[in-house]
Amino acid sequence: MANERTLSIIKPDAVAKNAIGDIIARFEKAGLKVVAAKMLHLSEEKAGGFYAEHKERSFFNDLVGFMISGPVVVQVLEGDNAIATNRDLMGATNPKEAAAGTIRADFAETIDANAVHGSDSVESAEREIAYFFGNDEICPR
Ligand code: PPS
Repeated sequence: MANERTLSIIKPDAVAKNAIGDIIARFEKAGLKVVAAKMLHLSEEKAGGFYAEHKERSFFNDLVGFMISGPVVVQVLEGDNAIATNRDLMGATNPKEAAAGTIRADFAETIDANAVHGSDSVESAEREIAYFFGNDEICPR
């Protein structure tokens, strides 16, 4: 199995629900290690840049507006198959389609406010991690 890193964001809805600890506990119980973390209140520019690939999508403005509506917790998770493991823990993008026991099934209500983000490929993970963290902010362990 490949040792990987992935970017995770606990979104404003989950932070507002005081679910940060519950969500991180799921990562840790699944064998993922938090090797970097910070809480941020994103600017429109920072959130828009993060989702730039979706700029032409109808939901882009709603997505950016939601992501700047409150603080988020941005983390780098490390472990065996971290990208797929994290996405399995998250569940489907639309919480109504998310499998029972996944983070989105348990903490999210709508596709607009779906609790967590996780990188979807090795390439995305590298880009997304570098978007939020310098190398000196990541602590392998
Ligand atoms: S795609 O086509 O697979 O790239 O798109 P998808 O992964 O489904 O969605 C990309 C991100 O956009 C968010 N999203 C939405 N936000 C607001 N409104 C609507 N209708 C909507 N549909 C999708 C979705 O949560 C994804 O955000 P992240 O942070 O990447 O999970």
